[in-house]
Amino acid sequence: MSYTIAIDGPAAAGKGTISKAVAAHFGFAHLDTGLLYRAVGACVLLGADPVEAAKSLTSEDLQGDNLRTPEVAQSASKVAVIGEVRAALIEFQRAFARRAGGAVLDGRDIGTVICPEAEAKLFVTASAEVRADRRFAELVQNGMDVSRDTVLADVVERDRRDRERAEAPLVAAQDAVEIDTSNLSIEEAVSRAIQVVEGRK
Ligand code: C5P
Repeated sequence: MSYTIAIDGPAAAGKGTISKAVAAHFGFAHLDTGLLYRAVGACVLLGADPVEAAKSLTSEDLQGDNLRTPEVAQSASKVAVIGEVRAALIEFQRAFARRAGGAVLDGRDIGTVICPEAEAKLFVTASAEVRADRRFAELVQNGMDVSRDTVLADVVERDRRDRERAEAPLVAAQDAVEIDTSNLSIEEAVSRAIQVVEGRK
């Protein structure tokens, strides 16, 4: 039997950390759907056509540290506006969600478009300042040479583009439970998320 947990929210709100911990807790598989858009964005930076890149994506394209750079993130949010790119990525995500044994998918449109029937939906938020601080610390830890202001500008611009696009905009599903992680530790945010899922079971 399949069981799907949808975790959406803006950039660097803590979705990735929470999703991994929730998946490990329940023994579910985890898919970071942002990687799909980042992989397409990376191909476009190398000169590829976005729709062709989305149609021919392989699991190898989802590996690699180069997908974590702010340049690739910006490119990802630009290709994510294109309806044909989103359409090309839907089936892979839905098949992953339906896998036996349960799945956690995190992204922007999982609870609204990809898996509207998900058994549990979370919308993870935090203030832009807090999100920029966290993403900055993460990038510096990975050895990247960025300024905190650039990271804040990147996060704010991507959020605006994600919220304002016509197709599958970033918005909480009506039946999603919101978790604001601004003042929560990782442990608190994870245990809150697990509580919400347990409450739905
Ligand atoms: O989650 P992450 O920051 O890696 O996502 C990169 C970009 O991919 C986002 O800014 C967004 O534009 C796009 N994305 C999306 N739908 C998803 C996941 C990511 O449009 N489900």
